[in-house]
Amino acid sequence: MISDSTGQTGLFGAADPDSGPHGASAANFDTAPAAQQRARIIVLGNEKGGSGKSTVAMHLVVGLLREGLKVGSIDVDSRQATLTRYLENRAQTMERLKLPLPLPDHRLVTRSKLAPSEAVADETQRFEAALGELVSGHDVVVIDTPGSDQTLSRVAHSYADTLVTPMNDSFIDLDLIAKVEPVTLKIICPSAYSAMVWDQKKVRAKRDGKSIDWLVLRNRLASVEARNKKNMTQALDALAKRFGFRQAAGLGDRVVFRELFLAGLTLLDLRERGIVTPLTMSHIAGRQEIRAILHAVGVREAPEPAPPPTAL
Ligand SMILES: Nc1ncnc2c1ncn2[C@@H]1O[C@H](COP(=O)(O)OP(=O)(O)OP(=O)(O)O)[C@@H](O)[C@H]1O
Ligand SMILES: [Mg+2]
Repeated sequence: MISDSTGQTGLFGAADPDSGPHGASAANFDTAPAAQQRARIIVLGNEKGGSGKSTVAMHLVVGLLREGLKVGSIDVDSRQATLTRYLENRAQTMERLKLPLPLPDHRLVTRSKLAPSEAVADETQRFEAALGELVSGHDVVVIDTPGSDQTLSRVAHSYADTLVTPMNDSFIDLDLIAKVEPVTLKIICPSAYSAMVWDQKKVRAKRDGKSIDWLVLRNRLASVEARNKKNMTQALDALAKRFGFRQAAGLGDRVVFRELFLAGLTLLDLRERGIVTPLTMSHIAGRQEIRAILHAVGVREAPEPAPPPTAL
């Protein structure tokens, strides 16, 4: 497991040549020295499995590092541990290619082995300990959560400054956010996940009087299925007003987002010296999508609009 800080962009030198001016684009973040401020906490959450949480988490981590920010990361999905495995693969690639790449200061928080009556307190305490180690001295902490309702996920949500929920453009995914009337697409009632978010908003407000900024990303958007896309837009616009979330485009459905895991790389690394992968149009469009997400969470200036997803 990667359990401690191994360096940031500045330490490792070579920055992404087309990622914009480092530091300056982080203008929306508090500009106080990292040691004096509490890191901003970004949680990736959705109880729907396979919606893209870990993929977006990894790209956000690397995107934030390449913006010159000090980044901590926490994986509370210890069963799959996708973000942790992604970062381990990255460390191996760095070793194998003798290639310095930015890495976050990472923690994996495992589930409790204690009896159910003690597990909630144990998991909460261990999560808060990991977060406590990262919130001072970093600009931002990115937390990846499992696609199911668990204590660790709930506690992580309650600490979110920004909650990023990637969802596939499908009414099956939407069903975990709200029950929708099939003909009129009107909202009938909130579903399990939005009810959980609402509960954690109340926990957060009670703890420190602050609110959670909720951002829903439409992940794996295809260029086809125009009717489904339109219906999803209509339903999501209504939900956004009712549940108080913002919307942004997520990542297009691109093979490259699946391929890079084993090497621990992201699209933002592909111009690094020593990585011999020709940049295709799909890669360039994918990089724009990542920058748009960084903009949506408040890190970058708005990028040029990405070209529409291409079939791969
Ligand atoms: N934009 C994308 N284009 C293509 N494939 C994607 C994209 N986003 C995610 N995937 C693929 O979809 C699958 C699920 O993605 P990921 O593991 O990031 O989801 P998750 O929400 O973290 O899942 P879980 O709930 O199981 O933790 C993976 O195989 C991943 O490679
Ligand atoms: Mg995951």
